[in-house]
Amino acid sequence: MSEQTPGIPGNFVPTEGRKQPHSDLVTGLFREIISRPKTDYRTNLSTTLPVVGSPDVVHEFSELVATSPQTTSLGEQPEQLEEISLPENHSPASESTPPEEAQILNLSRDDFSKSSNQPLSPPPIHSQSPTALDASPSEPGTTNQSERPELPFGEPLGPELRREQQESGRNSSGTEVLAQYTSNNHAWHVPDAPDYYFITKDEGVSTTRSAPASSFDVEAARRDFPALHQQSNAHPLIFLDNAATTQKPQTVIDALSHFYEKDNSNIHRAAYELAERATAAFENGREKVRKFLGAKEKGEIVFVRGATEAINLVANSFGRKFIGTGDEIILSTLEHHANIVPWQLLAKDVGAVIRVIPINDRGELILEEYVRLLTPRTKLVSITHVSNSLGTVTPVEEIIQLAHARGVHVLVDGSQSTPHLPVNVQALDADFYVFSGHKVFGPTGVGALYGKAHLLEILPPWQGGGHMIKDVRFERTVFQYAPEKFEAGTPNIAGVVGLGAAIDYLFKIGIPQIAAYEHALLDYATERLADVPGLRPVGTALSKASVLSFVIPGISNDSIASHLDKKGIALRAGHHCALPSQRHFGLESTVRPSLAFYNNRADVDALVQALQSLIHKHR
Ligand SMILES: Cc1ncc(COP(=O)(O)O)c(C=O)c1O
Repeated sequence: MSEQTPGIPGNFVPTEGRKQPHSDLVTGLFREIISRPKTDYRTNLSTTLPVVGSPDVVHEFSELVATSPQTTSLGEQPEQLEEISLPENHSPASESTPPEEAQILNLSRDDFSKSSNQPLSPPPIHSQSPTALDASPSEPGTTNQSERPELPFGEPLGPELRREQQESGRNSSGTEVLAQYTSNNHAWHVPDAPDYYFITKDEGVSTTRSAPASSFDVEAARRDFPALHQQSNAHPLIFLDNAATTQKPQTVIDALSHFYEKDNSNIHRAAYELAERATAAFENGREKVRKFLGAKEKGEIVFVRGATEAINLVANSFGRKFIGTGDEIILSTLEHHANIVPWQLLAKDVGAVIRVIPINDRGELILEEYVRLLTPRTKLVSITHVSNSLGTVTPVEEIIQLAHARGVHVLVDGSQSTPHLPVNVQALDADFYVFSGHKVFGPTGVGALYGKAHLLEILPPWQGGGHMIKDVRFERTVFQYAPEKFEAGTPNIAGVVGLGAAIDYLFKIGIPQIAAYEHALLDYATERLADVPGLRPVGTALSKASVLSFVIPGISNDSIASHLDKKGIALRAGHHCALPSQRHFGLESTVRPSLAFYNNRADVDALVQALQSLIHKHR
């Protein structure tokens, strides 16, 4: 930062006690953000921060945000780096072994007639089958980094080329890495960083952030959800547990009934009309999910039971193939247990280490710490798009860009983003993206994993069974291509049909309209809850979706939830399967109202009124 840099012009005040004026870049950004309406800078600050992602600049910017009167309620100093260490291991990552192309499970007669712990001899490469897998068993706990193939990033890449590319700031396909260091202003600049990162390009989906909330008719939408129109404890039901699961529109219920009434059959195997209809309905569901996520190809969509299974799939397939001793997996403090435990199980087995991106006291990721955690040992970043316990919208685009610039792959947990925000996996450039059907107004027991085609192609299956094979002999099994390779057994066919109907419904309403409406409702609810005496909000990120966690010191979370239940208000008190994020605030649980597009201001008013009456009783 130069001494000549002018101080902060305009209508805001520089950080008190600061010896040097803020740099042009930081002051400019700050001025731009603070000049926006509150609802705007709530969503834009975390987008802008990583755009200036050099640790110095980010620190300076955070400091300015945290200490300026315009944002005084927002900031605390970043906490210290946190680390969970499973088996301690620091052997250096070895350089690459080319990824196997063949995908045949090849066993000799002896291998299944005797129980042997001896590794099998290397399998032949079966050029006739592009889906042949080396199934040489590796003993849990004995996996060694030197046995791990180096995963090509984008396209096959030797270690020399990768090093050169990292140094020159180019990725494997020759495009410029997104973050460039500019020496004159000491800032990381991300070319073409979108202004509002979660409104993205997709067919049929507006690319602008200005979808008018007024074009969304909440009362009409409410009529589509029969479950909302019932009494609970002699009060009209107010459903505020949408982060746990969502209610289903009539069209989804009808699609499920129709399937079981008319089309029920197993898929892909039988040659009769019903089976053809069921297969077509199932594959239509795949196409709808492709469109929903903005994936390039239908084959990039794998059906699973839900986000949990999708993450376990990646941990067991990608993880066991490409992550070994001493390798590192980056998670964050915000993660749901579904995006922690599968990685711990993997890390324990293969000797990898988990690193954790810390959060600040608003519940936002500290990006400088993330940048520090990315090392040559990092093999995967697995991160939530929206926190289910705090509602934080994470800057996944920047997280992905920073990881990709170092040749690291990224899984995004979209369980809490897909119900609220338009998602486009191509615009995000996510390597894997997962979500659950029941959180997007579809059935339980179905969800999807998106994986880039070239990755799914080289990954081994993780479960074996029917439907995922081309040929089975006792000596040798040949697998299907992706996505079938990952879909062993009879899938949740009706679930996929119902999920397709839910996606149709969301597209009909308009996902940008939903995002804009919910954003306004979240602002309204945040302001109304501030009127409840003693209520302490937990998670006050500048960019949030849906979730309004809180505690009221002196009243237990369970008694708050039970008092609300008596008034017909359904929400959850507990750890929300995200204990690390609660413990950051010194809590083991919170009360968590979570909104969906069918909630309205009356729901929020009823919540506030019920809380006020509870507090009144406790006085
Ligand atoms: C952020 C997040 N990830 C993963 C999951 C797991 O989803 P499921 O239980 O549907 O597999 C949830 C569920 O609450 C979640 O909120």
